[in-house]
Amino acid sequence: MSNAKLTLDGTDHEFPLVEGSEGEVGIDIAKLRGTTGAVALDPGYGNTGSCQSAITFIDGENGVLRYRGYPIEQLAEQVTFEEVINLLVWGELPDEARLKELRATLAEYAVLDEGIKKVLEGFPKTAHPMAMLSSLMTALGTFYPDGDTEEEILRVIAGTSTLAAYIYRYKQGLDYVEPSKDLDFASNFLHMMYGTPGEEPDVDETIAKAIDKLLILHADHEQNCSASTTRMVGSAMASLYASISAGVGALSGPLHGGANQKVLEMLQAIQDDGGDLEKYVGLAKDKSSDFRLMGFGHRVYKNFDPRAKILGASADDVLTALGKDDPLLDIARKLEKVALEDEFFVKRRLYPNVDFYSGIIYRALEIPTEMFTVMFALGRASGWIAQWQEMRNDPAFRIHRPRQIYIGENERDVPPISER
Ligand code: SDX
Repeated sequence: MSNAKLTLDGTDHEFPLVEGSEGEVGIDIAKLRGTTGAVALDPGYGNTGSCQSAITFIDGENGVLRYRGYPIEQLAEQVTFEEVINLLVWGELPDEARLKELRATLAEYAVLDEGIKKVLEGFPKTAHPMAMLSSLMTALGTFYPDGDTEEEILRVIAGTSTLAAYIYRYKQGLDYVEPSKDLDFASNFLHMMYGTPGEEPDVDETIAKAIDKLLILHADHEQNCSASTTRMVGSAMASLYASISAGVGALSGPLHGGANQKVLEMLQAIQDDGGDLEKYVGLAKDKSSDFRLMGFGHRVYKNFDPRAKILGASADDVLTALGKDDPLLDIARKLEKVALEDEFFVKRRLYPNVDFYSGIIYRALEIPTEMFTVMFALGRASGWIAQWQEMRNDPAFRIHRPRQIYIGENERDVPPISER
């Protein structure tokens, strides 16, 4: 591959190209500022690769998503979330012995220091679960300050599950249910959410399987906003707990993970408003309205988000298995059809994303709407950790510190207050 050539002020500069294992090409501009004095400008980083990564591959044009080379469609049907944790964080699907060991350690680390409940109970019961989770993640680190990286990784993954359940129980005014040492990750989460304190676990297998699949589908998504945030904070050598806490904060935004909650609220609003789909599609197209079709569009997918396809099919299966019917699912399907036939969405290549159907399934599983993004974080914690660890182990590791183009006032003298 030849170099990239740039001419600036009449001087020619060349920059080497980097080609990935799937043929993606990057222009290595690490020496751009040093050789030209200029910086690249790319608000929102839509054209900028922050790293070379071997964890997740997305082909947005063709709706492809793979974790360490395995297609998401196969992982969602053939493995458990614990196997995906091992795949993302340690690079391979585990054998039986490793899976058994991983499952037992996660169950052990799901038991948290009693002191974390005092931190939790300092929040108003009206606090948003994502704000609570972000703060509690940093707090968790203060109880386990001296762990090695592997211990910290497993404590964060297991702790996210327990914290999510504790937050739910606290906001509902229910006593906490402690984790069981004999359950897999998804079942233990459901036991802590809906179990009875002191009683043996009684988890519905269908629901556990649906949760497990949702966690797999949300586990990683290369350099999305929250993964990049986790990398950025970790690049300052901040702790894993602090980095994950920052990732939770980024994910809480309605343009990112917070969209799943907004999708349900949007579908409910459409139903309450008599189901007038054309009105809401019209609002989404109207630049003067700040209404967006939540769960639609994506920075990378300009075709179907493969996760939305899987979740769209799962929604029917879960509702049927639970003997439930949800009019919001019918509204979602009709809304999808109307939007996908509308020139505005077709021209901008806006398709349903991962958040469009996930809320319907969470609702069927009786997860409260404001807990939907916590469910996203429960799956994504393993992806953030994989990204954080890869950044820390990168031979090119350095603190992330982007540059800028200054457009403010030129030098001027401070006037006395009488002249301002
Ligand atoms: C996630 O990055 C990831 O990988 C994220 C994620 C992950 O797994 O980590 O996949 C999870 O965050 C999924 C996205 C969830 N968010 C939403 O569903 C919120 C609604 N979607 C949009 O806000 C938007 O599509 C984004 C934020 C997802 C993407 O924004 P971009 O890439 O900055 O696109 P854009 O805002 O520049 O939109 C391009 C055009 C604009 O119109 P024009 O200026 O060209 O006329 O498309 C329009 C936008 O107005 N548009 C929408 C729209 N999304 C984009 N118009 C109506 N409804 C929408 N949902």
